[in-house]
Amino acid sequence: MAEPKVNELMEKIVSLCKRRGFVFQSSEIYGGINGFWDYGPLGAELKRNVKELWWTTMTRQREDVAGLEATIIMHPQIWRASGHVDTFCDPMCDCLLTKKRFRADQIDAQSGNAYHYTGAKDSASGKEIVEPYAVLLPAGKPPESARKTASQFYQLRGLQNVELLGERTEKVENSTRYNPENGSLLTEPRPFNLMFKTYVGPVESEEGIAYLRPETAQAIFAQFKNVLETSRQKVPFGVCQVGKAFRNEVTPRNFTFRSREFEQMELEFFIKPDEVVEAISGSVAVVDETKHPGEPQPNWGWKAWHTYWVEERVRFYENIGLSRETLGFHRQTPEELAHYARACVDILFKFPFSKRDEQGNVLGDELEGIAARSDFDLSQHERFSGKPMGVFDDELRVAWAKLDDAKKQELSDRYYNARLKYLTKVNKSDVPVEKLEKDAKEDAEGLAKGQYIPHVIEPSAGVDRLILALISNAYSEVTSTDEKGKSETRVIMKFHPRVAPFKVGVFPLLKNKPELVKRALEVRDLLRPHMNVFYDDGGSMGKRYARQDEAGTPFGVTIDFDTLGEKGPELLDTVTLRDRDTSKQERVKISDLLPLLLGKIR
Ligand code: GAP
Repeated sequence: MAEPKVNELMEKIVSLCKRRGFVFQSSEIYGGINGFWDYGPLGAELKRNVKELWWTTMTRQREDVAGLEATIIMHPQIWRASGHVDTFCDPMCDCLLTKKRFRADQIDAQSGNAYHYTGAKDSASGKEIVEPYAVLLPAGKPPESARKTASQFYQLRGLQNVELLGERTEKVENSTRYNPENGSLLTEPRPFNLMFKTYVGPVESEEGIAYLRPETAQAIFAQFKNVLETSRQKVPFGVCQVGKAFRNEVTPRNFTFRSREFEQMELEFFIKPDEVVEAISGSVAVVDETKHPGEPQPNWGWKAWHTYWVEERVRFYENIGLSRETLGFHRQTPEELAHYARACVDILFKFPFSKRDEQGNVLGDELEGIAARSDFDLSQHERFSGKPMGVFDDELRVAWAKLDDAKKQELSDRYYNARLKYLTKVNKSDVPVEKLEKDAKEDAEGLAKGQYIPHVIEPSAGVDRLILALISNAYSEVTSTDEKGKSETRVIMKFHPRVAPFKVGVFPLLKNKPELVKRALEVRDLLRPHMNVFYDDGGSMGKRYARQDEAGTPFGVTIDFDTLGEKGPELLDTVTLRDRDTSKQERVKISDLLPLLLGKIR
């Protein structure tokens, strides 16, 4: 079975990324390293703009979010508490013939006839190997092909003149036990922990084992109390972080989409448990989960906050040029949810490699997940570190005292049950039930004193996936035909001006006219403190525009003889301003240029 043909558009995008310096293969001169990518001059600028916009939107423009920048390597207990040491695994299997590794849950199901063998013997030496093996062939393919593959399998195990033993056939429907590329049987799936291990200190011993963080989120939970105490925030509030994450993915794929080193932009937004909201506000708001619920309200429970953050994140994407039509949404089913999550909505982007449904609609792949993580993480860090992770909320203490006994009982019962459920789940059968009940009771009694462990809503986005989405979204081609009938196709990267690597190109009409160059450099220096400017004096104007179109620069400013007033005083100190997407040019006074451009790029 042939390797599926890589999407043609994706090939063009990958080639443009290299040719124009958006993305390079890491360590390319040594043949590259699978799952690692470098960002070239344009990619680095694009990435910086995206991270800066995320940070500004999520922190600087909000009253209720503070920032954090934590280390990549942290105490290994963090990853035990979070569950990563035990459960951050993908099922992995290998092709028994080629040793190629697959993620068992990503193998396309195959149907056909399976040819099973009990073993093989060498017809010359009589040596026998008793090792079952099987090959799957699509219906109609001659059995010889299976025998050839099986013979190769036993040859690799030391037989030269292979005589296959015990052949039997079986009809197989939708099986993921065979390599889709050659039909060979795969090994049984086994869990593979995705964390990269390293050693801290000079001795490579068990005690020195540490992990490269597989997500930025855990540092936020571990530093929750420090941020709370130093930022003067009160629940509800969030802590956000942008930084590297590492996962030893079994099969990195689709260019940068699934990498082994990547960056995340994560917000952990801490909220009051619903019982606390109800005690303070009398009831918990019921929201329509299909639309933005508006400005945050004191009576919002986790569902309202979850809906709010999904919609806020969609607005962010719209603001940088990804329209709703380019996005998709996936509400995770209970089976798909991570062990800690109550709900999770994935925001998808329709990548060129995304699969289609039966009607031919592109489904999209995950750009960001917005999870409602309950109080799992803070509770786990409290349990593992022995340090209290709860908060004291005087508003709750005062409100609780005013509740009637029936309401107190109802809310504390609900809180008790939620805590008992959590404690039972994480302690399994290691702790006696009576002890768990006692701990849950103490937690519920804390409500009256104004104490609780905050819940969390987590919008978690991948920088590299967003960059790939922006590049895919921006890619467009225009074909023009000249008078001689020769047609030429050019690429225009239609980045939203907010994210474009360079905002404006500045061009002197001729580079050998000192007056033009002088004026062009003055314009460059006027704009440069406020935006990223690309100065280009090489080649024809058409070539320079085309280069900037390919880099995605939304505006071009040309300084010509009119600027110098050679055609009359009315055009003195004016320039042409060209729009990348329409190619339209307008004459603008240099003194108006900065406010005009600032208005367009912000
Ligand atoms: N703290 C939650 C968390 O890490 P996740 O869904 O595993 O959740 C969040 O990751 C985001 O990180 C994803 O939506 C994706 O954008 C990005 N991401 C995850 N694994 C990635 C990988 N191997 N390569 C590139 N981006 C990745």
